[in-house]
Amino acid sequence: MIEIRNLHKSFNGDLHVLRGVDLTIETGETIAIVGQSGCGKSVLLKHVIGLLTPDEGEVTVDGKNVHALKEDDLYALRGRFGFLFQGAALFDSMTVRENIALGLVENHSLDEDALRRIVAEKLAVVGLPGIENKKPSELSGGMRKRVGLARALATDPDYLLYDEPTTGLDPVMSDQIDALIAKITEQLNATSIVVTHDMFSVYNIVHRVAMMHEGRIYFAGTPEAFQSSDDPVIRDFIRRFGTERSAQRGMEVRG
Ligand SMILES: Nc1ncnc2c1ncn2[C@@H]1O[C@H](COP(=O)(O)OP(=O)(O)OP(=O)(O)O)[C@@H](O)[C@H]1O
Ligand SMILES: [Mg+2]
Repeated sequence: MIEIRNLHKSFNGDLHVLRGVDLTIETGETIAIVGQSGCGKSVLLKHVIGLLTPDEGEVTVDGKNVHALKEDDLYALRGRFGFLFQGAALFDSMTVRENIALGLVENHSLDEDALRRIVAEKLAVVGLPGIENKKPSELSGGMRKRVGLARALATDPDYLLYDEPTTGLDPVMSDQIDALIAKITEQLNATSIVVTHDMFSVYNIVHRVAMMHEGRIYFAGTPEAFQSSDDPVIRDFIRRFGTERSAQRGMEVRG
């Protein structure tokens, strides 16, 4: 279980991005975090794995305060997380194999054969078997996302954090990534946070939606409750971010 309590974060003194975020993510749950660009979704995710330190408030993972952990314990905790960064964030100078093996090399003492086997297995899961020796520059955007996903899965994490897994992909590729995330969530029985403004993902793969607005969680509830909300802020968000993708898919979104 991840508990986020009264989280505050400012940058450069005056940019108060998080203004008291409260959110509990139950074990086994898949939750979407939505909100306007720049509202602090990525900043929030980075606090969960201790890449950013809050000005106030806390994040606990299975009862452990992330920001009070000693360095070794923080690394151990990070090993239980898979993180698909916004834009995939692969290292261009490394092969696909080296990119996927990164977290394994850091956290485990596995021999070459075991590394090879795990990398091959994770590439198969994301539907890209045999591309170990390619460089990220040789891959399409969708393939890069899937390699990023394979890297996130490499350590068989208990927690998966996805930051905009389908942004910048065409609808067909987005569907494939959504389906993969849904499959992975089910197979691993992982607890997942999906940051997205893709309404299609929201309605199809998550148990709950949390919407950030003005530095706080403005709404948290089922996708159905989110979609049918009469709250003007939510309606405005759905109208602006939901219509574009849904129109591409021929879906209707209540504005
Ligand atoms: N390390 C940092 N230093 C200074 N400002 C930052 C830093 N990280 C984020 N910010 C600022 O915090 C705000 C929130 O950023 P964040 O990346 O969390 O937005 P987001 O909700 O993920 O947006 P998007 O949907 O575009 O990805 C932005 O104004 C951003 O410029
Ligand atoms: Mg972001």
